[in-house]
Amino acid sequence: MIAFGRPITDESEIKNVQDVMESGIYVHGSKTTEFEKEFCKRFGYSNAVSVANCTAGLHLAHHSLTKSINPLCKKEYEVICPAMTHVATAHAIELAGLTPIFVDCCEDGNIDVELIKKYITDKTIGIAAMHFNGVPCDIKEIVKVSSENGLYIVEDCAIALGAKVDGKPVGSFGDAGAFSFHPVKQMTTGEGGMLVMNDACFRDQLALERAFGVDRAFNKRKTPGLYDVTMLGFNYRMAELPAAIGVEQLKKIELFENQRKQNFATLKSCFQGIDGVTIKGGEMSDDRSYYCLILQLEGCTVVERNKMINALKEEGVQTSIYYPHPLPRLKFYSDTYGYNPQLYPIAATFADECIAFPVAPHLNQVDMLKISKTFKELL
Ligand SMILES: Cc1ncc(COP(=O)(O)O)c(C=O)c1O
Repeated sequence: MIAFGRPITDESEIKNVQDVMESGIYVHGSKTTEFEKEFCKRFGYSNAVSVANCTAGLHLAHHSLTKSINPLCKKEYEVICPAMTHVATAHAIELAGLTPIFVDCCEDGNIDVELIKKYITDKTIGIAAMHFNGVPCDIKEIVKVSSENGLYIVEDCAIALGAKVDGKPVGSFGDAGAFSFHPVKQMTTGEGGMLVMNDACFRDQLALERAFGVDRAFNKRKTPGLYDVTMLGFNYRMAELPAAIGVEQLKKIELFENQRKQNFATLKSCFQGIDGVTIKGGEMSDDRSYYCLILQLEGCTVVERNKMINALKEEGVQTSIYYPHPLPRLKFYSDTYGYNPQLYPIAATFADECIAFPVAPHLNQVDMLKISKTFKELL
């Protein structure tokens, strides 16, 4: 079976994890700080806070940026959110007590900035900017819009690790950016996430809020067990075992990136020129990163698309859907806010007519050729 994603690890991850296990220090140790430091160095960030997963990081960021608002009227405040993204982007806003306002995407899957401008009202307080499938959204325009309107920005970079705009890494444009290290992402820690931010004071505040708001970490307490709590906080820490994996994954990231890019290029050339089939966000550049390759079967029904996905699976090719619904169509959100399909026509084509093919580094050129041959035969 050609799997959609499979983590690549070797003896080095095992050895680093073993070192943590032998040390007996599973939390509050040196691996998480080392991981944060190395992550900043490798990708060019000034500050980072490791977290349990990307969703925790997004929630923490929205919470922290809006916590001064009276909880009794918080729901009146709106945050612009892409309709075409993982539900975590919206849940983070909802969990922070705010209201997500869903906005349709452009043809590459990224949020349509012209629509953002139309949706801004005097209730708008922030923008959730998600970078879709490794292609940066129009973050420079989003920064312009947000500064004109006094809005905060949280970037969801879960599937865009390594992407840049004018040489500046995604996640460094807004107030905070969050990455995911789920097993099928550009690198993994099993479960895990990283928040990045430019402001060092905000970093310190997020680090406290990530761990109960406790004023002194375990290893900084003069009298064991004695600490105070200065603010409301979560338990969203990353543990030492995932951080140990992350430190080693960072050393391999260039190999992962190159293989993804090569796989994408091969698959793209195989898929070009097929009647009725469009590659979504297929432009290649040094500034984007590569996650999967999305094909649109133009004008097909959901049933036909699903039939193709299942037939590919039968033939040993695992694919996926990014993402299976415009978020406002999900039951929770349609029950809460209602769903008007006319507002999300492009997001709906991603959800209903598209298939996401794997390009992850556990696969090679031969796998790409097999994927395209199988797809063409089934088509
Ligand atoms: C855009 C986006 N944001 C957030 C997440 C959630 O990441 P995590 O599983 O690390 O919480 C995902 C997961 O795929 C995602 O695709």
